Amino acid sequence: MNGQASKGTEPSDVTVESDAIALLKADHRAVERLFDAFEKASDSDLEAKGTLVRRACEELTVHAIIEEEILYPTAHKALGKQDEIDVDEAYVEHYLVKTLIEKFDSLKPGDHGFDATFKVMTELVKHHVAEEESELFPELRETGVDLVALGEKLSARKNELMKKLEAAGSKLVGDRSLSFTRAA
Ligand SMILES: [Fe+2]
Ligand SMILES: [Fe+2]
Repeated sequence: MNGQASKGTEPSDVTVESDAIALLKADHRAVERLFDAFEKASDSDLEAKGTLVRRACEELTVHAIIEEEILYPTAHKALGKQDEIDVDEAYVEHYLVKTLIEKFDSLKPGDHGFDATFKVMTELVKHHVAEEESELFPELRETGVDLVALGEKLSARKNELMKKLEAAGSKLVGDRSLSFTRAA
């Protein structure tokens, strides 16, 4: 039960497909690549900026849904009283990210506030990711929760959502049935 093999070898970039933490970290790296690409995009390349923002919003929406449906409830149950606050904070940070994602329903590349909103989203997500990776994930690993089984659940749900995303084109983000924060 307690992941002997993983103790002391936090798989920062080791790809263990079925390990929940490796899967979530891979998602984090994917969205960071989009943030980097946005930063490097030329100011006049509105098409590239629009595409990068849309993809980041989609990736973040799917990631947040699987964390809120599967990871956070498991962590909340498994963690001791003193660490539960980390899960509560994570929900609040997701809520803030979601608020910014919704702004892109109406904000278009070139609009006043488009770049600033994405910049703030980038900073917020980077802060949130750093906290998950330095606090929540190691705490969860310590509890001895079966991270492989958890990874399988996350992966199955993610595949389902990605299929829905493909079917919906770019409509997923605006689909309120896919709301990802219980606080909303
Ligand atoms: Fe999160
Ligand atoms: Fe995350």
